[in-house]
Amino acid sequence: MELDDPIRRGGFVEHRRERGDRDRRQRRDVEGHEAVLAQPSLDLRRADLAQERAANVLDADRTRVDVVGCDDPILAGTGPRPAVRDPVAVPEHWEPLIAGAEVPAGRVVEVEIADDEAVTWRTRSGAPCVMARRCPHLDWDLTDAIVMGDELLCAGHGWSLRSDGVALKRNEFGREDAKGTIRTWSAREHDGWIEVETPGEAQPGDA
Ligand code: FES
Repeated sequence: MELDDPIRRGGFVEHRRERGDRDRRQRRDVEGHEAVLAQPSLDLRRADLAQERAANVLDADRTRVDVVGCDDPILAGTGPRPAVRDPVAVPEHWEPLIAGAEVPAGRVVEVEIADDEAVTWRTRSGAPCVMARRCPHLDWDLTDAIVMGDELLCAGHGWSLRSDGVALKRNEFGREDAKGTIRTWSAREHDGWIEVETPGEAQPGDA
């Protein structure tokens, strides 16, 4: 091959130019093809997103319609917000039981709470204590009991009834045997009255 032949050289140049053009065309075609391929996938993704959004809106609308369609204004979101309350808590309510002056230290006084018979007395510190009137042993009347510090000593058989309601039997050596409990009420002294806590709606004066 005569490389210095101008015709052949020109042919070679021409060939390279043609080949370059063809490569560029192919590259353009490929890029165009990729662009064409990429475009639908983008559109599809957009379409998916749009469809997703539309479904969410539909769901939200459906929920709103369902809720609005119900009769309960709170569920429907059109009524007042309900107050948050502890379902277990019972509101405290204090009932006056007896004037504090009628219960001097060392004395056991009979009282009534609704239909229950009870007694009230004062512990060593002077705090009022209210408990059932009948001893848990053999129903002795506790108005006969003796106040011993923070306990009542039953006159029947000597059981001790603590202010927290625990019943004990003590022997001469000081051994204590638990004997169950006696019913007690929470009590306080307020404005000259011994009051007991009872279940019920709190009143404005309760504090
Ligand atoms: S009745 Fe009270 S101790 Fe027996």
